[in-house]
Amino acid sequence: MSYTENGYTKLEAFRENGYVVLDRYDQSADPQEWRDIEFVDWKSSGETRFAPLASAYGDLECDGFWNHTPPKTDKDGVWVPANADKAPKLVERAKEPGANIGRCRVIELLPNQYGETLYNFHRDDNNRLNPEGTGWIVRGFFNLTDNPDSVMVLRDDKDDPSTETRIALPAGAQLIVDTQRLYHAVWHQGDEPRYCLITSWESGPELEAYIEKYHGTGFTESYPLTDEQLAAGEALAAEKRAARAAALAARGQDPTFGDGTLTVLEQQLAGGMEMEQLSEA
Ligand SMILES: [Fe+2]
Repeated sequence: MSYTENGYTKLEAFRENGYVVLDRYDQSADPQEWRDIEFVDWKSSGETRFAPLASAYGDLECDGFWNHTPPKTDKDGVWVPANADKAPKLVERAKEPGANIGRCRVIELLPNQYGETLYNFHRDDNNRLNPEGTGWIVRGFFNLTDNPDSVMVLRDDKDDPSTETRIALPAGAQLIVDTQRLYHAVWHQGDEPRYCLITSWESGPELEAYIEKYHGTGFTESYPLTDEQLAAGEALAAEKRAARAAALAARGQDPTFGDGTLTVLEQQLAGGMEMEQLSEA
């Protein structure tokens, strides 16, 4: 079932908690196509890289679709031949729902700490230029590497730990998240990079049928953390926020944090680069 909110079609499955967990996929049977595709280095970003499978106009780049001429919303992504040809299985999985696809890419994330993840919380700008009367854009996350102790961390309110859900990411974990609604970032424990396929899909009957087919559920138990781990994470995030504020103040700049997207910092340090490219999940 779907409903309309602020002019957009949204799916009931997301209404309560903003995410859906699908059946786990048998990743072990597939070739490791993410090893064969080309990753793009983003300026100033040492922690993540992206390999675009579909971009705004088919070029090997990951910029927001609105940052192109002509600008477009995060739909009608164009397959990037150099990468899509080398990753047919990933492309097939992105296409399976039959929903309109915008950005589609593999992320490489290096190991980090839980407190860094809290610091990296952000929301995505998925629906810029999306016309009312159409489907709300949400994002699929298919974990490719086996990271059972890494988690997608979600919060309704970035400053309220009681709103947090932590979803474990073993190989084949499949989530769809309204990343414009929920603050999100991934805590990746391990020694090796984590790889994940991220796809923007339009909400509608196709995506709804896909979610039903794979028994999507809008609730999951959080990956457990001790009170000590939770407190240490909050402390590290607070420390990093304070350091950022001090660094900006020392430069005579306004240490405001806005809505948590780090807009100020990104503009000053990265020439306007989108925060989500720095800390994408
Ligand atoms: Fe994001």
